[in-house]
Amino acid sequence: MAVRELSLDAGQRWNARDYAQNGRFVADLAGGVVGLLQLQPGERVLDLGCGDGALSRRLVDAGAVLVGIDASDELVAAARERGIDARVGDGQALALDPTFDQAFDAIFSNAAMHWMKRDPDAVIRGAWKALVPGGRFVAEFGGAGNVAQIRRVLHAALGRRGIDPDAVDPWYFPRPRAYRARLERAGFEVREIALHPRPTVLPSDIGAWLRTFAGRFTDALPEVDRAALIDEVQRELQASLSDGKGRWVADYVRLRFVAYKPGLTA
Ligand code: BEZ
Repeated sequence: MAVRELSLDAGQRWNARDYAQNGRFVADLAGGVVGLLQLQPGERVLDLGCGDGALSRRLVDAGAVLVGIDASDELVAAARERGIDARVGDGQALALDPTFDQAFDAIFSNAAMHWMKRDPDAVIRGAWKALVPGGRFVAEFGGAGNVAQIRRVLHAALGRRGIDPDAVDPWYFPRPRAYRARLERAGFEVREIALHPRPTVLPSDIGAWLRTFAGRFTDALPEVDRAALIDEVQRELQASLSDGKGRWVADYVRLRFVAYKPGLTA
């Protein structure tokens, strides 16, 4: 089954214009994981969760022969406009596409794998299958404690409205030990894996962030009630995440790793 035939978006709506306004920092702050990739010109790279292709474009400009996949057709369209070979697909179904078998020297992912909560082991199995022997899996996504204050306040606000927040929470933020164990179970040799707290200054307020990234929570309510939920969450986070002068800092914690598929032995 071709990956592009699958339809999956973790239930999160993406709006390319909104994302460009409120999510540009995602690509701008990816220097750490891009450095870990140690890209060599001509390498075949799969960008897992390429989003609107802003970071894929940087990798292509640095010499990658890159395929991007993303669950959002709207973001894939934006990536294609940047000249990226981007396809709509589910990162949890990579292994089902035979055209990806051993097709890549590196699997790269930034700020995407926390959306692949349904089956994290399938993501890892798919990456393994798509890599050549000796290939590497280099990624960064939300780790344990990521956006913990935002998440806690969102959960409480939905709970007060009689909604089970765990049932709608789309985010997977693992601890390094648990994720290392998953990688090793699949056969990867983990060279490094660690949490990196990264408080992140937002381009706007937390309301804009929620509208861009927390659709699964707000969509649990009828449309007429969503603005009030966002206002309430913003008010409750004001003291801890804002300086009161309009500068908002989100409590991001990244999980970053480099893992190798062992090479062929002579
Ligand atoms: C993240 O990049 O860590 C993230 C972004 C949006 C929602 C949750 C996490």
